[in-house]
Amino acid sequence: MKKIYGLAIETSCDDTSIALLEDNKVIECVTKNNNEDFKNYGGIVPEIASRNHAKNVTDIFEKLYNKHEQHFLHLNYIAYTNEPGLQISLHVGEILARSLSFQFKVPIFPINHIYGHIYSSFINKQPLLEPFLALVASGKTTSLFLVNSPIDIVELVATKDDAIGEVYDKIGLALGMSYPGGPKIDAIFDSKIANIKFSFSQQKNIFSYSGLKSQVLNYIKNNPNVPKQNIASSFQKTIIDNLIKKIIYYKKKFHVNYLVIGGGVAANNYLREQITLFFDKFFIPLKEFSCDNAAMIGYYCYIKEFKKN
Ligand code: KG4
Repeated sequence: MKKIYGLAIETSCDDTSIALLEDNKVIECVTKNNNEDFKNYGGIVPEIASRNHAKNVTDIFEKLYNKHEQHFLHLNYIAYTNEPGLQISLHVGEILARSLSFQFKVPIFPINHIYGHIYSSFINKQPLLEPFLALVASGKTTSLFLVNSPIDIVELVATKDDAIGEVYDKIGLALGMSYPGGPKIDAIFDSKIANIKFSFSQQKNIFSYSGLKSQVLNYIKNNPNVPKQNIASSFQKTIIDNLIKKIIYYKKKFHVNYLVIGGGVAANNYLREQITLFFDKFFIPLKEFSCDNAAMIGYYCYIKEFKKN
């Protein structure tokens, strides 16, 4: 059967990434992480991010082209991230995609970054198992989707304010932990000492964490003698138990047995432990495809636009 070759470009935030794919297999994905440039700013500066992309895309493309020139002769499509993300950074990727589309005379496909994350669990691994629930939990988003097919993805619960990872990081900072706080809170978690009661309830269709965040930050300020580990453990138990409760509600509602988790918070040990109690199977991406990368953009484009049956 004729092979389909694709080139994918990801520039939505601070990582510049370009991948070459043959059908659903990743031939090579090159990603340049620009974290170092933001160390002194305490976060990403959009202007610097877009300048970095403008330089990186040509360096990475040249490297891939020189190594895999024969595949470029057979290129069938170009996929690029068009939303959500930093506007000018997204434009850098789009301009490259449009120029290459003109050069190689192949169609371009704009791809949603979050949908890429949802399907990243299946790259170079398991077959697809729709329908499934997909949780994307990172420093930028907390969303739950019902995935019936690559073209039928329904957002069930949307991010209303702070993303879950962002709250972990802010509470971590208040507890004296350096960024990112998520893995550090997780590392000292002990359910036996999670005995501080934080009140926390939410509507079914939103993830809203700013109230819980303020409550925990105030508690830290007003109770300097309570051990950090007790506060961190109580916070983690509250936020993850609530997250699990919500996922279980939708699992029952839609009768689905599989869950896919993407984004940095998917690494959380307590979350994983709790999920195995409720789901027959859950999927997380291979390490190299869990952070922002172009392979997931190409993979999702391939299964959406080219995969038969
Ligand atoms: O998806 P990701 O790598 O990129 C961004 O969204 O920027 O997610 C990073 C987030 C950070 O907020 C970090 O604290 C959180 O994921 N994180 C965790 C854990 N590992 C990373 N949160 C809770 N538990 C963890 N083990």
